[in-house]
Amino acid sequence: MDQESAGHHEFPVLGKAYFMGGRASTSVKRVLAAAGIDDEVIQRVSVACYEAEMNVVLHARSGFISLDILPDRIVIEVHDQGPGIEDVGLAMTRGWSSASDEARALGFGAGMGLPNIKDHADDMRIESVAGRGVSMVLTFYLGDRVHE
Ligand SMILES: Nc1ncnc2c1ncn2[C@@H]1O[C@H](COP(=O)(O)OP(=O)(O)OP(=O)(O)O)[C@@H](O)[C@H]1O
Ligand SMILES: [Mg+2]
Repeated sequence: MDQESAGHHEFPVLGKAYFMGGRASTSVKRVLAAAGIDDEVIQRVSVACYEAEMNVVLHARSGFISLDILPDRIVIEVHDQGPGIEDVGLAMTRGWSSASDEARALGFGAGMGLPNIKDHADDMRIESVAGRGVSMVLTFYLGDRVHE
């Protein structure tokens, strides 16, 4: 529990472990609530984190989510090992999905995750290396929102 008092936290995410999908984002939410972060910010971080976590579960092999609570902002990083995203611009398109039949049968694959992350974060950086994986850095400002 001593990790709880520090500003940096990491939570593992396992690919294909559908039944555990959402655990890391739930942990992020719990840490933010314990730190007394504003509900509106917690909501935005939670939605973005859940979508990013499910993308690791659905599309990658494994990864982790890190959370940093800074005086003026929350920074979430999501790093995975997997196939990467061939065309990030295309993947960001609402409704575009390469989800497997297995994933679709579970209700995923609307192609709304990445656009949803962009809508909920104040800043979104995404990098992909084909055959290696995806890295994402999301920033959420505390206090007044800097931009939509
Ligand atoms: N971490 C990742 N690794 C590899 N490919 C990814 C990753 N995240 C997203 N993608 C690719 O980008 C596409 C769009 O992602 P997005 O989250 O928007 O939709 P989705 O996951 O397919 O469906 P939804 O999120 O609505 O359930 C995915 O179908 C997949 O091809
Ligand atoms: Mg998704």
